[in-house]
Amino acid sequence: MGAVSAEEDTLPSAREQAGQDQAGLEAIFRDAGQPTSRRVRALLRAMTLEEKVGQMTQISVQALMSSPGYPYGSGPLDPARIETVLGDAQVGSLLSGGGGAPEENTPRAWAEMTNTLQAEALERSRLGIPLIYGVDAVHGHNNVLGARLYPHNVGLAASGDRALVADLGRATAAQVRATGIHWNFAPVLDVGRDPRWGRFYETWGESVALTAELGTASVVAQQGEDLSAETAVAATAKHFAGYAAPATGDDREPALIPRRQFADVHLPPFEQAVGAGARTAMANSGSVNGIPVHASSELLTGVLRGDLGFEGVLVSDWEDLRRLQTVYQVAPTYADAIALAVNAGIDMAMEPLNAVEYTTLLTELVEEGRVPMARIDEAVGRILTLKFELGLFEDPFVDPDEAERIIAGADPELARRAARETMTLLSNDGTLPLAPDASVLVTGPSADSMRNQLGGWSIGWQGVPEGGPEPEGTTVLEGVAAAVTDPAQVTHLPAPTPDEAAAAAAAADVAVVVLGEEPYAEGFGDSDTLELPAAQQELLAAVQASGTPTVLVLMAGRPVVVPGALEGSAAALMAYLPGSEGGGAVADVLFGAHSPSGRLPFTWPREVGQLPLTYDAYVSTGYEPALPFGHGLSYTTFAYGALTAPQQVRPWETAAVSVEVTNTGDTPGAEVVHAYVTDWPAALPLAPLRELVGFERVDLAPGETRTVDLTLDLSRLARTGGDVWGEGEREVVPGTYTLTVGDQTATFTVPDA
Ligand code: GLC
Repeated sequence: MGAVSAEEDTLPSAREQAGQDQAGLEAIFRDAGQPTSRRVRALLRAMTLEEKVGQMTQISVQALMSSPGYPYGSGPLDPARIETVLGDAQVGSLLSGGGGAPEENTPRAWAEMTNTLQAEALERSRLGIPLIYGVDAVHGHNNVLGARLYPHNVGLAASGDRALVADLGRATAAQVRATGIHWNFAPVLDVGRDPRWGRFYETWGESVALTAELGTASVVAQQGEDLSAETAVAATAKHFAGYAAPATGDDREPALIPRRQFADVHLPPFEQAVGAGARTAMANSGSVNGIPVHASSELLTGVLRGDLGFEGVLVSDWEDLRRLQTVYQVAPTYADAIALAVNAGIDMAMEPLNAVEYTTLLTELVEEGRVPMARIDEAVGRILTLKFELGLFEDPFVDPDEAERIIAGADPELARRAARETMTLLSNDGTLPLAPDASVLVTGPSADSMRNQLGGWSIGWQGVPEGGPEPEGTTVLEGVAAAVTDPAQVTHLPAPTPDEAAAAAAAADVAVVVLGEEPYAEGFGDSDTLELPAAQQELLAAVQASGTPTVLVLMAGRPVVVPGALEGSAAALMAYLPGSEGGGAVADVLFGAHSPSGRLPFTWPREVGQLPLTYDAYVSTGYEPALPFGHGLSYTTFAYGALTAPQQVRPWETAAVSVEVTNTGDTPGAEVVHAYVTDWPAALPLAPLRELVGFERVDLAPGETRTVDLTLDLSRLARTGGDVWGEGEREVVPGTYTLTVGDQTATFTVPDA
């Protein structure tokens, strides 16, 4: 919300608004030709405190349904609950959190549900304020049966492809908006520093560069040029900030993050996304250095607003105001918790179940003077600004037929292309690519499981509900069967005993063993071992012992520890959680239709005891993981030629760097070029082993040479000064740095500022 301009002072005064000027105010905020800030001011002046507090409240759609599992599960909309939430409490926002589907989960039914809720809200809003509806569409419109689901972020990070991430962001936004939903709680911008964490797969891995660049590409693509467009949604920079580093690796456990690391690792992706125009942010459910983030005015106002300049809507995470009382016990009552969080900077509470309790308490807090009216107006001003920018006052309704057409008609090729680009070849003794006339054993729990392939946040919060309808797509088994010359050559054993597996493998030319994780989300995915179940390890060992070349395919949201996996296999492919068409993409790689190009966006530890182990840490004892950050093989070979970099780069500028890359093999392939700074001036603080400062993906035909242009963002080299407390400013230490791209190096100097 900007300062009041001269024209805005011409609004009818609050004193006059009681009379006929209510109509005058209405004429202004209903006029789409007026500046948004003027419309907001006029509407704020017309609103009562109760109406304002309702706008600061977000309720789960499941709390408006009558379902056996109320307030969870799906069921018909309940008129009494609609009256309570949208009438009595004047709630201005609803969400479908991790599911929250209409009874019949179809695109049409979603659009009909949101249309109904909009109409119910408008009917009960004296001033005709529309709802804003939010959802977690974190890998496509993943709550909707019939939508194509895309790879989760951790795999997309391996692709190094900003344009691909933008394509997926646009496709997702168009599908979400088509169902009458305007706000996507995505992307995650937390830097994934600990693979034990149950949300690691939602991150872009452990590097600041991949997180910041790809996360921002998603934000920009989802929001587009015009937020009121039918293809645009408001994106969410989440979870601000320091959420991905719980000390124990367990979700929402306390994080202890030195100021230097917080500023140098955890903040930059949010800074870049805010700078690129992210319209909303979501607060971190966890605590940082002893302070629950929802109670931290330092983070939610001082840093997010003051340092990063964020002007959008800050929403809480699920039930996180109440958790200040019930979990963190830093507030004696719920009212105290609400005061703490709203005064710290929370604009909207994802309450998400008790509309009347929340609005009543917040109203009382304002009347008691414990929450200033100015804070309410600031929060509601941001929320109304977002609703005006989304065009919701002009038309909040959608066409159910269009929703069906857009979602059912989404191009599966985009999902398959995206999955292909994530595929990361970990090892290969030449067994891959397979000949199409090979007789193939396909086995393992994830060989024919759409549920495992999609992972969490798919139809249901914890993944596709068991026994429920399976989303469309292509599993590995289906992909392999389509790739061989004769499907009769494919033997599928979904769950053999080790002996059965060994016998079947012995009879085949090659055995494809697809191991992986069951779906999970949040704390349910926390792992103390990173290991796969013993049965999977036994299955792999039995197949390996058969003597038949074993190709291991891993479908997991993290680096899993499988003893002997690489050593005993002819080849190993990391497929991450590749989405609806992931099985087809795996087959494309196995049979050579696509040469893999993914690079690990994380360090693959030999065992969990090595953690924390990240590529950018200062490790005097040496960085010796099972596989390093950036590892990835191809079916062809590449050579790097001339690397050109400027002699001198000023601290906060970007630098144009270029390098020649040649495909020296006889197979087409893509190379994800990573540019690292590998040597630093001898100065405080400790320098990382290497820092990713640029990346680009390039497709090359056999024998083709391209000059790849990279933009080095020198801010990636900034380190927080000061002594042990990190009390200094962020600066790029002057001196000489070494840039390494492939096997080429160049030095550049950063002059004194
Ligand atoms: C969850 C997640 C958050 C999500 C929200 C709504 O608990 O922490 O990422 O956006 O609730 O589903």
